[in-house]
Amino acid sequence: MKIQNQHYRTIWRDAPSVCIIDQTQLPFALVIERINTHTQMCHAIKTMQVRGAPLIGAAAAYGVGLGIQHNPDDQTVHKVASELIATRPTAVNLAWAVQRMTQQLLSVPDAQRVQAAWEFAQAIADEDVAQNHAIGQHGHSLIAAKAAAKPMRVINILTHCNAGWLATVDGGTALAPIYAAHDAGLNVHVWVDETRPRNQGASLTAWELAQHGVPHTVISDNAGGYLMQHGQVDMVIVGADRVTSNGDVCNKIGTYLKALAAYDQQVPFYAAVPTPTIDWQLLQGTDIEIEMRDADEVAYMQGQNASGQVCQIRVIPYESKALNPAFDVTPARLVTGIITEHGVFRPEQLLSLAAR
Ligand code: MRU
Repeated sequence: MKIQNQHYRTIWRDAPSVCIIDQTQLPFALVIERINTHTQMCHAIKTMQVRGAPLIGAAAAYGVGLGIQHNPDDQTVHKVASELIATRPTAVNLAWAVQRMTQQLLSVPDAQRVQAAWEFAQAIADEDVAQNHAIGQHGHSLIAAKAAAKPMRVINILTHCNAGWLATVDGGTALAPIYAAHDAGLNVHVWVDETRPRNQGASLTAWELAQHGVPHTVISDNAGGYLMQHGQVDMVIVGADRVTSNGDVCNKIGTYLKALAAYDQQVPFYAAVPTPTIDWQLLQGTDIEIEMRDADEVAYMQGQNASGQVCQIRVIPYESKALNPAFDVTPARLVTGIITEHGVFRPEQLLSLAAR
């Protein structure tokens, strides 16, 4: 993706470091941070300097490279892997990437492991970019079909959280079809849910759509149902942190409410999902561990004040408690289709992909 006409990925190796875009500083500052140890990578994942299911998978893969660079023995590989896996529980991409790294590294002699780790991590990052590109093409066809049915009219797409290029190594999942449609000249407009409590929609999705020149409007999380009732939403496209083999979609908290409203209003609801986000071991979404984050993320909001300083303000009484579940599960029955790099599947058809 381009930021002010310069191409960036969200993560890349610049030996001896791994560089990331610090997403906690966006949209007000573009800060590149150098990560030098796997402990620093664990911290970056936990504090959401890097975030989004595919990106935390790639970040953890690079983290393995950092963690074994001075001692690549079996014990260190296992220790580094378990510390990285423990950083965030819900997005399956993280455990998937670390397990793949571990398996591949243990099959290589110790003396070759450091170099191999960088190559394996790079492969995970490159595969993510290719998968997202394919998702973009398949999703573009869905948008093009809507546009054909509604000639000369704007296609309004609602999205929740950030499943754009910032949530991946590059390209995005839910936003990939939107970028492809926009680049092909379709008249798309995006309703961007702000996505409390951390506002990934308002601060990240809005920022990257603006960088790409895609027309968009930020709405409060509560506005989506109203817009659907008034014919203002043609389709919903979201990302996912984990999809179970029955097609249940776990994504950022609030996604389920959007799916319910979409179902009630007969608005198609799609999840854009690269296959590393599918957990074939879990049969249903209720088995997914939902990350509970610090209540302060609900009690405080971050923003820029009139003097240009980024600061935190408290929005609830000091006497009140807050609760912060970070994800919810949308049952397969509410999902119109799952857009993968291999095509678009009805949730009940998903298992046909497992054999590939
Ligand atoms: O807590 P976050 O910001 O990591 O959550 C991100 C999401 O829920 C995304 O929608 C999901 O990871 C898909 S990203 C392509």
